Amino acid sequence: MINNLQIFLALADAVIITDVEHRILAVNESYEITTGYSSDQIIGKKAGILRTPYTPKETYLHMREAMNAGSSWSGVFTNRKKNHDLWHSSITITPFVVEGITYYVGVFRELEQLERGSYLNEDRIGKIQGSLLKVLAISCEIRDPSIETHLLRVQQLTQLLVIRHNERYQLSLSVEDISHIANSSILHDIGKSAIPEGILYKPGPLADYERIIIEMHTLIGVDIINKIYAELDDELFKSELSMAKNIILYHHEKWNGTGYPHQLHGVDIPLEARIVSVVDVFDALTAKRPYKEKWSIESTVQYLEEQKGQHFDSEVVDSFLSLLEDGLIPM
Ligand SMILES: [Fe+2]
Ligand SMILES: [Fe+2]
Repeated sequence: MINNLQIFLALADAVIITDVEHRILAVNESYEITTGYSSDQIIGKKAGILRTPYTPKETYLHMREAMNAGSSWSGVFTNRKKNHDLWHSSITITPFVVEGITYYVGVFRELEQLERGSYLNEDRIGKIQGSLLKVLAISCEIRDPSIETHLLRVQQLTQLLVIRHNERYQLSLSVEDISHIANSSILHDIGKSAIPEGILYKPGPLADYERIIIEMHTLIGVDIINKIYAELDDELFKSELSMAKNIILYHHEKWNGTGYPHQLHGVDIPLEARIVSVVDVFDALTAKRPYKEKWSIESTVQYLEEQKGQHFDSEVVDSFLSLLEDGLIPM
């Protein structure tokens, strides 16, 4: 009868086959190894014997709704193995009808089990990444007391701008992409930590060689970030790495190809860097610094308009100005 479904038992993942009452009809070897139960011990029992109170009630509710509707369902279960260890897994359950009888085939994917036995959801991972990057960025540039305000503001405005730009031009950036761009924007000048203070904070015009050294902060920044991520070597951070590198390396490139370090043109400059460059310049102009007065909003807006297609991507500037018009940029 379930012969047609036997094929699923050959999968490398833990697999379970039940009847509509969730009574276990078959499990594969991977399931036996993972849970510690042999087929003999578990066949005929209800699949719920592995249940723990850690799986939210709604999860079972949603699963049952999907099963009743005859559709497949995926979710996260925290079950208990025979030796009482917790087992966090994502499971996909698919109903199959064979000769008029319905069977459920469940395929488990083990989630990385953390030492404390808790499963971190995406939201929490995002928050942890965000705070680590913040501490990292601020501590690297601690020599300039005004920098913390600038970094936090760049991050805040980048978040607003990415969301607005994504909506206006229907870029279909995911929630993760958006938070990765905003989180990594705080690192844009991390390479400045390696530039001598005498040059970095020099009042007055810079000599050519001093300018060249300052411009190196983009390349040094990527080097720093490569070392940090190599040290962390954790999947948690991998996804953010390429966004962070693009922002650090290219936030001084200009749309017309006259920026640094690689004189990239137009859309060759990654979008995340085009976005951060508008925000970075906006905040630099509108903030008061020891060596300069702050610009008025009117002159800053006029400057951004003039620099469309020169320094900046016109569409990004338009998105930014639309936020200003809507009064959404906190001043
Ligand atoms: Fe910079
Ligand atoms: Fe900056």
